[in-house]
Amino acid sequence: MKNTTLSLYLTAARDIVREAAELIHHHRAAGVEVRIKPADVRELVTTADEAADTLIRTRLEELFPDHVVISEETTAPTPPPDPQTPTWIVDPLDGTSNFAHGLPAFGVSVGLWWQGRPWIGVVCEVMRGWLFWAAAGRGAWHDGRRLSTSRTAALEQAILATDWTHSPERRRRATHLFAQFVLPGHTARSFGSAALGLSYVAAGWLDAYVNLGLSPWDAAAGTLLVQEAGGTVTSAEGTPWTPAHEVVVATNGPLHTAVLEMVRTHLEEEA
Ligand code: IPD
Ligand code: CA
Ligand code: CA
Repeated sequence: MKNTTLSLYLTAARDIVREAAELIHHHRAAGVEVRIKPADVRELVTTADEAADTLIRTRLEELFPDHVVISEETTAPTPPPDPQTPTWIVDPLDGTSNFAHGLPAFGVSVGLWWQGRPWIGVVCEVMRGWLFWAAAGRGAWHDGRRLSTSRTAALEQAILATDWTHSPERRRRATHLFAQFVLPGHTARSFGSAALGLSYVAAGWLDAYVNLGLSPWDAAAGTLLVQEAGGTVTSAEGTPWTPAHEVVVATNGPLHTAVLEMVRTHLEEEA
């Protein structure tokens, strides 16, 4: 992709994500209407998710009519991104359970994929107004600072994170994985937003983030942040992560083999 084109897309993504974050702020202040999605009693959706989805989708379609936009509240079932068409993968509000309960950890996530690889990843942590962004070959950035993943090489010094998925079966697996993280690690965390978990790995605040059941929009942006910050992101098989993978293993780099081994052993035992 030409440098000027990448810059154009990056500017658009950052502006749109900021605008969506503002909109979510307004919805929070005005009072949130929460509904349960028909497919699953644990999956919530709010008026803010839907409004942010419409805003991001509309802006992207206006600016880039020949691109594909996949967004959580509009696109179902999820079509695999066509590698030949630039595809925006949008989570308008990641961390809806937190948002609906008043917990302040949630974000907006927009990633651009093309030719089987990510080009742009932008995540905004809404309540803090923090923007994390990355562009292929240009690094990952937050608050004017170039991000780099931690150098932690020993599990006992590492903070490892995961989140609970919606399906009971995967949740049971995640519970066991969490126990595996707590025992050898320094400690373990669960923030309730994959986009934020991945951003924190990119920032070097977490040493690894693993999720056993993601949708493409949860990680399409955050995984580029981690990679551009020097970390490693793979599937459970150790292959490069793509939006087709439900499991994401994102680490600082030095810990990847150890964390991947824990995930694989765990999944084999569970099978
Ligand atoms: C959820 C969050 C959570 C993850 C779930 C996702 P949502 O996204 O990212 O951390 O564990 O699998 O569904 O529903 O809040 O956009
Ligand atoms: Ca999500
Ligand atoms: Ca969402």
